[in-house]
Amino acid sequence: RQIIKIGLLGLGTVGRGVFRILQENRESIQQRIGARLEIKKILVRSLAKDRGIELPAGILTTDLNEITGDPEIKIVVEVLGGTNPTLDYVLAALSNGKSVVTANKDMVAEYGQVLFETAKKYNCDLLFEASVAGGIPIIRTLKQSLAGNRIEEVFGIINGTTNYMLTKMTREGSDFAQVLAEAQAKGYAEADPTADVGGFDAARKIAILASIAFNTRVPLSKVHTEGITGITADDITFANELGYVIKLLGIAKNRPDGIEVRVHPTFIPKHHPLAAVGDVFNAVFVRGNAVGDTMFYGKGAGELPTASAVVADIMDAARDIMQGVPGFIGCTCFDHKPVLDIGETFSK
Ligand code: NDP
Ligand code: HSE
Repeated sequence: RQIIKIGLLGLGTVGRGVFRILQENRESIQQRIGARLEIKKILVRSLAKDRGIELPAGILTTDLNEITGDPEIKIVVEVLGGTNPTLDYVLAALSNGKSVVTANKDMVAEYGQVLFETAKKYNCDLLFEASVAGGIPIIRTLKQSLAGNRIEEVFGIINGTTNYMLTKMTREGSDFAQVLAEAQAKGYAEADPTADVGGFDAARKIAILASIAFNTRVPLSKVHTEGITGITADDITFANELGYVIKLLGIAKNRPDGIEVRVHPTFIPKHHPLAAVGDVFNAVFVRGNAVGDTMFYGKGAGELPTASAVVADIMDAARDIMQGVPGFIGCTCFDHKPVLDIGETFSK
């Protein structure tokens, strides 16, 4: 049976989840794709750190070249985070003909174009399902299952950390700093949690979703972004008295004059399905002109839910390699429609 070798960049929350799923579900994965997936090397910063899992001797490395320069490794899985040096690492992998799977919304939202062009040039898959809404298969859904629709709007709760925080602040009256620390301890938050509470993580995700849904590149600079740092206990109490809950939403609309994309805390009526989406769960609404309204729900962050999406991408990349047809980037995203500059108008 064919063995497809993988290089894993990163063994933190998500990397550990990927390692565990590939081990624990080895048999069913092998049956589904007709090949064995084997992690050959894992890039980390520290070789000494206790990883809390049993690892084969010599599997860890601090030398990128042992992965990108190894002709046996066909798929590189990037779960390091950030863009520096990560972008260079991923470009090196693609330029060496390796298909890439990534969970990195910062990199895809900011550098999608160069990544897609490089993947196309070297005929490699570039898959990024885990970059938006953790375990919810929303990118594949927009790229494939709903591809026949004219998508009219996409909106929802797309940051698990802030939803966890707002849920606890609403239901238990918890303190902002305390619930943020809890979300960090659970592995939900970004390395720099300002990205979560400041709304930037949701902005990157809605930029990615809007780019795919409307087949237009949405620059981050065009996403009006407000986070939850200004939300007080009084805001939550007033919302409750008026029959609302506060949720951080990412919203993208396909308007006749252009694309409108924004992130901000929003009053949601208590009877609305989004009001019931608590804890680390995410939910994404998509309205298509043929399908009508659809809603997708699941865990938006955390080790195994996120790794579930990464592993599905690895399996797709492996299938393409076995069939000799890698090169799927799944997105053209080239300026088909203007993106509205709504920032100032919207704040007023
Ligand atoms: P962690 O901080 O838990 O893990 C990062 C890993 O990358 C660590 O193993 C670290 O090594 C390694 N690493 C970081 N920089 C370098 C470097 N320069 N060279 C070598 N190794 C490096 O991150 P997460 O697992 O939480 O997140 C990874 C990615 O997945 C990010 O892009 C994040 O946005 C995304 N993501 C995360 C989700 C989550 O729920 N956590 C959900 C969806 C996406 P060492 O261990 O030695 O320090
Ligand atoms: N920090 C992110 C979140 C991780 O809380 O949603 C998942 O992308």
